[in-house]
Amino acid sequence: MCGIVGHIGAGDSVDKVLEGLKRLEYRGYDSAGICFKNSAGDLSLFKKTGKLANLINLLNNQDHHSSSSVGHTRWATHGAVNDMNSHPHLYKNLAIVHNGIIENAEELRKGLTARGFKFTSDTDSEVFLGLLSFELEEGRDLLAATSNAFKKLKGSSAFVIQSSDSDGIVTIKRGAPLVCGINENLGEAMVSSDPYALIGFVEKIFFPDDDVMCFLSKGSINFYDLDGSPSTRYLAKDLETNFEISTKGQFEHYMLKEIYEQPVLIRKLSDIYLEGIDLELERPKRVHLVGCGTAFYAGMVVGQMLEKLLKIPVSLEFASEFRYKDPLLLPGDLAIFISQSGETADTLAAQKLCKDKGIKTISIVNVEGSTLFREVDQNFLIHAGQEIGVASTKAFTQQVLTGRIICEAFAGTKDFKSLKQKFSLLSHRIEELLNQAELFKEMAQKIYNFQGFFFTGRGPYYPVALEGALKLKEIAYVHAEGYAAGELKHGPIALIDEKMVNIAIVGPELFDKTVSNIQEIKARKGIIIGIGPDVADLRNICDLFIPLTFEGLEELSPLYVNVANQLLSYHIAKQKGTDIDRPRNLAKSVTVE
Ligand code: G6P
Repeated sequence: MCGIVGHIGAGDSVDKVLEGLKRLEYRGYDSAGICFKNSAGDLSLFKKTGKLANLINLLNNQDHHSSSSVGHTRWATHGAVNDMNSHPHLYKNLAIVHNGIIENAEELRKGLTARGFKFTSDTDSEVFLGLLSFELEEGRDLLAATSNAFKKLKGSSAFVIQSSDSDGIVTIKRGAPLVCGINENLGEAMVSSDPYALIGFVEKIFFPDDDVMCFLSKGSINFYDLDGSPSTRYLAKDLETNFEISTKGQFEHYMLKEIYEQPVLIRKLSDIYLEGIDLELERPKRVHLVGCGTAFYAGMVVGQMLEKLLKIPVSLEFASEFRYKDPLLLPGDLAIFISQSGETADTLAAQKLCKDKGIKTISIVNVEGSTLFREVDQNFLIHAGQEIGVASTKAFTQQVLTGRIICEAFAGTKDFKSLKQKFSLLSHRIEELLNQAELFKEMAQKIYNFQGFFFTGRGPYYPVALEGALKLKEIAYVHAEGYAAGELKHGPIALIDEKMVNIAIVGPELFDKTVSNIQEIKARKGIIIGIGPDVADLRNICDLFIPLTFEGLEELSPLYVNVANQLLSYHIAKQKGTDIDRPRNLAKSVTVE
């Protein structure tokens, strides 16, 4: 989603903001822009559709020496992708960038047009600029004007406001991520939608609560409530200096690197949680598992574990459905929110709903300090490190394993020996799979031109069939569907012919029944790629085959299978030549609903 970076301090402000925006590229965007205070004290605006490199080219021949600048990468919500709709938006001496959606924009736009404001874009964001300019014309200072204008908006938004008349930069947010930071020694302050942009530039970061305005000036930040009084509603944190900026290393794509990181991360998780720390958690009567996208599918695997191993009833919901369905929440229920970023708008809204109703909430989250991390009663970090590839890979594995650890916590287990062995075995088996890259490459060359893919599985392999199809859609732009193998004959089998590929996941559970389902597809000339144990009954009916060794993995085996799906999707996308790390239309962190 939209990325925001602002800086105030030394004269290389534009370069720092561009570096910050570069780091946010992984989140997905379609245009980029920057506004800076030039040597005459006026605001200079540059914006361009396409990659950040286009904006940098624009700036190359310009004097961009400045000590105050605000930049943005846009992921279009209102208005087409073009230069005009890109941010920042400028009106006279005032510039804004925005992340979020103004839900009452149309109504406000009409009022502003009637008052004579001339819109130059189709965005909802410009409405805030119009409101702000009238507030300032009425004689209010920048903070009071920001507060008044912001109070008129509905929906979730974060703004950064720059004025050539002010020495500082103002920020305001509600329901959208925003983090500020300072470097007192260098006399600098920064703001961003993602702490990742601030690493190495600032020493201390601040997460303002909703409806808190921040006034950033050289080396300091002041916080205000909407009534203008000083605010203490923020969380301050020293930034870890050892936090490393992720690089691709020897890998062609971040996604591939992240797939290959999994064995090490599994061992790390085991060391963190299974070395005898006290993990006791009160056993709930019922668990609600809530997430979006890949995190939702991770929840599906965790839900099966909770029911099977602990007999705890589970309800699994997409956050976007849960938040509006008036869910049945009962005393003794526990809600677990799964999110890599901890900033997904729907997941946050679902958590708030539970919190407001007095239900205990816990997270399975990757980003420490994220909004979800700050809002829940208890956190379980997945320790996946920075995930840059938009299509989530290593986070899925870590989310499921963290869920598995939570099962132990509910059970009050003190001896983790057998679980540690399973983690270690999983790590080892995934390593072996990753060493077979050639098999996946060759397979991808044979099938990448097909247009339709079914991923099928039963029981514990059904969630990874869904996740496998999602991965392929995301990065290879082909139609792929995940299906419960036994359900295929209730409709989708009508689609099977010699042009349809079936990636059939077969585990030790329900082996014979799943093989029968494959026979049904084969009888209709479907192409079969089998993923399963190396036995003749299966191998002989598959056109292509990925042999796996399931022994000893038990309930962790879906994660093993999932790595095979990840590699297959990656190599298909590579054959197709898509933008694997930043697929079209997608955003890493979806901060609007
Ligand atoms: C986006 C990403 C997905 C991710 C989903 C949930 O759609 O492209 O990869 O699974 O959001 O994100 P979260 O950060 O909450 O796990």
